[in-house]
Amino acid sequence: MRTFAKVLAVSAVAALTLTGCGRGSDSGTTSGSGSGATSGAAAGFPANSLIGVALPQKTSENWVLAEGLFNDGLKKAGFTPDVQFANGGVSEQQNQIQSMVTKGAKVIVVGAIDGSQLGTQVKAAKASGATVIAYDRLLLNTNDVDYYVAFDNFKVGQLQGQALLDGMKAKKPNGPYNIELFAGSPDDANAKVFFDGAMDILKPKIADGTLKVVSGQTDFNQAVTQGWKAENAQKRMDTLISANYTSTELDGVLSPNDTLARAILQSVNQAGKPVPIVTGQDSEVESVKSIMAGVQYSTINKDTNKLVAQTITMLQALQKGDKPETNDTKSYNNGVKVVPAFLLPPVIVTKANAKEAYANNPTLLAIVNAAG
Ligand code: BGC
Repeated sequence: MRTFAKVLAVSAVAALTLTGCGRGSDSGTTSGSGSGATSGAAAGFPANSLIGVALPQKTSENWVLAEGLFNDGLKKAGFTPDVQFANGGVSEQQNQIQSMVTKGAKVIVVGAIDGSQLGTQVKAAKASGATVIAYDRLLLNTNDVDYYVAFDNFKVGQLQGQALLDGMKAKKPNGPYNIELFAGSPDDANAKVFFDGAMDILKPKIADGTLKVVSGQTDFNQAVTQGWKAENAQKRMDTLISANYTSTELDGVLSPNDTLARAILQSVNQAGKPVPIVTGQDSEVESVKSIMAGVQYSTINKDTNKLVAQTITMLQALQKGDKPETNDTKSYNNGVKVVPAFLLPPVIVTKANAKEAYANNPTLLAIVNAAG
């Protein structure tokens, strides 16, 4: 159960942590326009309008999948898509959004590299009458975001924390267990939420001595992986092993996603250490293979098809001048407002349930079946 707001922490630069506001501060009904006032929503817009989709860098497979799904899905729905990656970083993404505004996009869907660096651009989008939807990652410290569509990020973290515990217990029924903690990139609004979700499960076990973080690095800021880059996670794991695990057993590692899980496992492998329980997220092909081979322990299934389809459903409502459906108006406080959200449920996947979890995904199901 979520007992507190997924109040988001913030830009690494500002190192500002927002606390206290959020959950419970908005018990009202679903809001179509939010406090930022959407002028475009009530009127609707022509069916073939330009829809901008600003995606971040290709830091995991889900983003790559989203590109194709948005292009195809938007065209099929009659819209004119403008889907862009910002591999060059924040300023490229800022320019892309500005240019979508200039081209007259009616809705701009943003998967932010840094959710706190797009205030000027989304302000311009709103001033032009466009609706702004935060996709997968929340936009922070701005009133100019109307909706959020994502998998429940806090739940993702909780599932990862629980999987770490379950995996270690299945291997060695009694603790204490030696673990290390990894988090995602601090500029990504999701990273802190994933970590907080996991710590919601792990903290009591650290407190009662079941878990021991041997390095002592239990803070988000100590655990982060800049840019979600595999090499950064691998380097940190190398350092953690040589400083703490030359003669101590490592039982488990909390990894926030699959790319980092594989980097962590590579580090352990190169150090000649036994394979610990390592969590993940995204159901990336290489990680599903690794799980079926009994190496990586778990991943999360966040079906990108469903997330893109839900976004397009929201766009279709906006196009008609209707309020898009949301199912959470309390949890995602971006620092200045609670953003009405449509949250999809993430699913934990281990070797044990992979077949059912990927029943509708031919690519992943083939990997599961091939592994027998
Ligand atoms: C997404 C994750 C992904 C990570 C790195 C996050 O914002 O929610 O699914 O692993 O970005 O790309």
